Amino acid sequence: MEATASTTEEKTRLPNHIAIIMDGNGRWAECHGLPRFQGHLAGLERARSLIRYLNNKYHIKYLTLYGFSTENWSRPRDEVSGILGIFAEIIDQEALAFHKQGIRLCHLGRLEELPPGLRKSIKRSMELTKNNTGMTFGLAFNYGGRIEILEAVRRIVAENIPPQNIDENLFNNYLYTAGIPDVDLLIRTGGEFRISNFLLWQSAYSEYYFTDVFWPDFNEKEIDKALLSYRQRQRRFGGL
Ligand code: IPE
Ligand code: IPE
Ligand code: MG
Repeated sequence: MEATASTTEEKTRLPNHIAIIMDGNGRWAECHGLPRFQGHLAGLERARSLIRYLNNKYHIKYLTLYGFSTENWSRPRDEVSGILGIFAEIIDQEALAFHKQGIRLCHLGRLEELPPGLRKSIKRSMELTKNNTGMTFGLAFNYGGRIEILEAVRRIVAENIPPQNIDENLFNNYLYTAGIPDVDLLIRTGGEFRISNFLLWQSAYSEYYFTDVFWPDFNEKEIDKALLSYRQRQRRFGGL
């Protein structure tokens, strides 16, 4: 009897927080004989449709997408400005659509280096959606896991917090993800097996899902597969 109940539970179990390293835009474009920029456009379209799918079909509470890393500044200037440009162009309009669906937008990363227009749009979008109680969508943009940890440490030190008060709970509150729970399922598309400085602290006990599929091709069927794989896993957190 008990075994049946737990099997049913396994099947219906969904991750509370999904984080995705959306990789493979450039290679997708190359495969289609297109410039890399077209790959980023296609990737953005994919992100827009998957956010809706995960919200409407699965009611996922927290979704974080890696859009631009602190290391991505080292790409050719044209590519960087192309990526910044397409985000700047759609964010306000996208935030309105999120708002209608009750989605709350959070930015994870450093705003400082971003162009003023994009910075303003991100702030405006966060302000607009801050009281929404549906999905929390984390946009990791100009995000780096190590700088996130360092910035937390700097603020803790600057606030003279006594060492005995510094525990995991307190530390969580100093990260960009304050108020957002740990990642349950971390997906990387594009065939690489690495974390590329993404959510280092928050993915300490995540389940990983790697796929060769390039991000623009990571459609509803692919996300269903990732979720099925997650449901079949047994998470032990060091226990038995
Ligand atoms: C991911 O796709 C998007 C960003 C890093 C901004 P890539 O641009 O890294 O695509 P590949 O890995 O070169 O194919
Ligand atoms: C990771 O992809 C960053 C994002 C998806 C935004 P990269 O393509 O930058 O990662 P590496 O360079 O292969 O590690
Ligand atoms: Mg890449």
